[in-house]
Amino acid sequence: MNYKITVFGLGFVGLTTALAFAEKGHKVYGFDVDIQRTEVIKNGSLPFAEPGLDSALVRHLNKNFVISNNAQLSVQESDFVFLCVGTPSGEKGEADLKYIYSAIDLFSSVLHDGKQRVIVIKSTIPPSTTKERIIPYLEEKELQPGVLFSIANNPEFLREGNCWDDMINADRIVCGISDHRGEEMLRSLYSGFSAPFFAVSLNTGEFVKYLSNTLLATMISYANEMSKIADTIEDIQVKEAFKILHLDRRWGNSNMASYVYPGAGYGGYCLPKDTRAMYALAQSKGFEANMLKNVISINETMPNFMANKIMRISDRKDKIGILGLSFKPGSDDVRDSSSAKIIKILLNSGYNHIFAFDPLANEVFQEEYSLDGITYYQDRQSICEASDVLVLVTAWDEFAGVDKDYPDKRLVDCRYYL
Ligand SMILES: NC(=O)c1ccc[n+]([C@@H]2O[C@H](COP(=O)([O-])OP(=O)(O)OC[C@H]3O[C@@H](n4cnc5c(N)ncnc54)[C@H](O)[C@@H]3O)[C@@H](O)[C@H]2O)c1
Repeated sequence: MNYKITVFGLGFVGLTTALAFAEKGHKVYGFDVDIQRTEVIKNGSLPFAEPGLDSALVRHLNKNFVISNNAQLSVQESDFVFLCVGTPSGEKGEADLKYIYSAIDLFSSVLHDGKQRVIVIKSTIPPSTTKERIIPYLEEKELQPGVLFSIANNPEFLREGNCWDDMINADRIVCGISDHRGEEMLRSLYSGFSAPFFAVSLNTGEFVKYLSNTLLATMISYANEMSKIADTIEDIQVKEAFKILHLDRRWGNSNMASYVYPGAGYGGYCLPKDTRAMYALAQSKGFEANMLKNVISINETMPNFMANKIMRISDRKDKIGILGLSFKPGSDDVRDSSSAKIIKILLNSGYNHIFAFDPLANEVFQEEYSLDGITYYQDRQSICEASDVLVLVTAWDEFAGVDKDYPDKRLVDCRYYL
């Protein structure tokens, strides 16, 4: 069965979702409030770097996938409405739902028409949000889910840098849902995907996503704490020690082992805010989540730990070359990037010869942080030659071998990569 779908929010998750459903033969309308972003997409380009998604866009643009200029009209025609807008951290670490509410405001009046639809929240929202926040929000507008329409959550597990493959070849599809009609429609929509489909309670659907992200953050903070202990003991080959740990066959050569590996702290859009949101939610329910509290605070210490390593082998007059600005290799996402935090500490400590180079993220980083006093370089060779101290912060393939190619430069390998 081919459906009509409107997707709100055309970021990493929304654009991938829209194109994945287009690929499966559905008609998809994509809507975003960011006009600059929709113009870029309309012209057949991606607003961010994401391998594989570019060719999917070219295949489906103005065929199964069209940019909507009128959210209400698109929703009127649609069987499904997917909300893929951002859910950033609020003041106390809680998930800020303002973009979800503003998206609902754009189309909610249409829902009174009685057409059978499923409203699906794909944005990451903490457990109990659909039940305790979103359903009451709709009820205030005299919209009763389960009667006029169904409401569901459908957490997304894709990784930036791998968005397309992670969605098209998902390893599980989870839908938090409370009514039978909505469940049947979602099962039918996802029947074109080969992943196992789990229909669970609304709160379980949301919980599963946090179970995943808080575990990843915990593994990273565990590894980071161990690397700090190793540093105090001295003469410990941290990189070798972790590689040996991974040879334990109980890891089964899985990619998960890569999260039990030290670095400069987790960054990006998801792990920092989702870990904070889960901690804040537990606290609001009267539970002090000590493990998450420590996961977060260990992460917050990492940029200082790395900056101190840099300062131990340099002085303020040195030219410091920061290799990598994105939060991970293969992506130009610089949100919550460790490089920005390390650079800010160095600038505040009086270092004023900071050089930087990222294979993809120079411009995005400049726009996002507008930090004065950084000189950007366009390639590895020129930054390495110009710098006294090299600081590898993002483990791009391109930086492999800098230690061998520039043996005379002082080096801090924040990712234990070289
Ligand atoms: N990025 C990831 O790796 C990832 C993975 C899994 C889940 N998630 C979750 O998915 C959600 C979206 O993440 P993202 O990385 O795609 O975010 P993003 O910032 O890349 O994109 C969000 C988009 O929503 C748009 N938007 C905001 N308000 C809107 C409205 N009222 N109507 C239409 N569009 C609106 C913004 O303009 C933006 O383009 C978040 O909750 C995130 O936690 C992200």
